[in-house]
Amino acid sequence: MATIYTRPEEYDLEHGSGEEDIAFYQRLVQRLEARRIVELGCGSGRITVPLAELAEAHDLTITGIDLSDDMLDQARGKLEHLAPGCRARVRLQRHDIRTFVADPPADAIIVPCSTLAHVLELEDQLQVWRAAYASLVPGGRFVVDLTMPNLPAYADSMASPPRALVEMDIDQESDDGVHRLIRYKTTRYEPHRQRAYVHFLYDRFEVRDDDEQARRYVSDFESHVYFPRELQLLFLYTGFEIEATYGDYRYGRLKRTSREMVMVGRRPLSNA
Ligand SMILES: C[S@@+](CC[C@H](N)C(=O)[O-])C[C@H]1O[C@@H](n2cnc3c(N)ncnc32)[C@H](O)[C@@H]1O
Repeated sequence: MATIYTRPEEYDLEHGSGEEDIAFYQRLVQRLEARRIVELGCGSGRITVPLAELAEAHDLTITGIDLSDDMLDQARGKLEHLAPGCRARVRLQRHDIRTFVADPPADAIIVPCSTLAHVLELEDQLQVWRAAYASLVPGGRFVVDLTMPNLPAYADSMASPPRALVEMDIDQESDDGVHRLIRYKTTRYEPHRQRAYVHFLYDRFEVRDDDEQARRYVSDFESHVYFPRELQLLFLYTGFEIEATYGDYRYGRLKRTSREMVMVGRRPLSNA
């Protein structure tokens, strides 16, 4: 079954422009005074390209890693619109994030937009954390960004008989007003594996088309559902210190109502 990653233009339409996390990462790399940055699961460049816009002025180099050729091609297309001095500071590489080791090591590794939910098994997760550790200079940061577990949605799916409610969670028009994308979502959760089976159903409309026929397709995902304590343990077990945990993209603390969890791990300055 194809996923939305085979339709990178629609991935971008789904996210729209000017999402809060873009500004968060632009500020974060400056706060951390990171120069050499790696983005794991860079996809269509939604975060990579806005970071690259800062590259020349802030002396950044950015390496984006992804396994999807479609998403990487979309990112490459966007990079072509950048000033040559910024474009020259970005490298996109097709690689599995479980085994990518940066050489030379980075000051900061970021994993935006719940990419790590795609890494399902504990051994694979440990591989990612260990590879990140090996890819950082001493004192370098590993920034993991995941959505908080949506317990009410999971509870519905665990009812007996199970109820898989469908919610319409995105209704987005393209900036040029030509396309409209509506996304419906349904989730089934298996608590014993912390596994969510998410089915997305997309309707894409041509806004100016009189007959209003939608093009419809589905995209299925299996996601690992991380809990905050589990994230802490992954960092600590692999040798990181935990420097900060945020519950939103404004550097607010993690709290009961938080929708996001962004954890910043730091590779210690010495191994002692
Ligand atoms: C939710 S998208 C995030 C893209 C981008 N960082 C953003 O914020 O829009 C997740 C991306 O991770 C990539 N991905 C998933 N598993 C991967 C793996 N094991 N190795 C490399 N890339 C992976 C997918 O191809 C996809 O482009």
